[in-house]
Amino acid sequence: MRIRILQTPDAVARALASDISRAIRAHSRLVLGLPTGRTPIPLYRELVRLHEAGRVSFSRVVTFNLDEFRGVDRRNPSSYYAFMRRHLFDHVNLAPRRVHFLNGVARDVARECARYERAIAHTGGIDLQILGLGANGHIGFNEPGDALVAHTHPMRLRQATRRANAVFFGNRLNAVPHEALSMGMATILYARRIVLIATGATKARCVQRMIEGPVTPRLPASFLQLHHAAEVWLDAAAASRLSTALSAALRRPRRLRP
Ligand code: GLP
Repeated sequence: MRIRILQTPDAVARALASDISRAIRAHSRLVLGLPTGRTPIPLYRELVRLHEAGRVSFSRVVTFNLDEFRGVDRRNPSSYYAFMRRHLFDHVNLAPRRVHFLNGVARDVARECARYERAIAHTGGIDLQILGLGANGHIGFNEPGDALVAHTHPMRLRQATRRANAVFFGNRLNAVPHEALSMGMATILYARRIVLIATGATKARCVQRMIEGPVTPRLPASFLQLHHAAEVWLDAAAASRLSTALSAALRRPRRLRP
């Protein structure tokens, strides 16, 4: 995995937003995989800013979001779809027909998951998948366990994950669904390039295990170690538990030169 450490969450957001904009300028039909959560909010703010400044156009970009709560309609303000509208979709020129989302209220869940996989395949696959990191090591809603699921699937959420998501439900834990639909591990790992972002000290322990620990379903994000083009972009706080040698080398590469 390639690791990039910047000082603050805003620096991570600015650098990644310009990287994504460059990728879009190079390939206007870029297929982007997108996360929700608190971590990408500054990234979306930066992308909106670049769009307003005329530096990036999303008119031909295709997006696929990672996940959605089960039983939550997209019109519900607590849905991940509503989150994406608030932070990105309503502020840039994405074509609605190129924005793809899992339908949390689909009656036939297996069919909905198969539809999503087909839609991704139909576009030729995800070019750039952006990921956040759950504090327990989940990516999308692929929770830690004895085994992981390859393709888009329903997932029972861990209590800690429900607590972390209560913020989207007016801080009422009872209102947070027990299940979600999520891209699977293979859906994510098929992406041509992956950038996981993690910021803040609360992620530091998990970041250290993801990068320096074994590949294990107990920490789904550790599977990124198997990807040929996975990058981890961190702020200083999230990088603070990386082995000293690694973080020093990454932070001050110039000083290592003779
Ligand atoms: C949710 C999402 C994940 C996200 C995680 C981290 O559980 N399903 O895709 O990465 O939260 O959220 P945060 O960025 O708020 O820490």
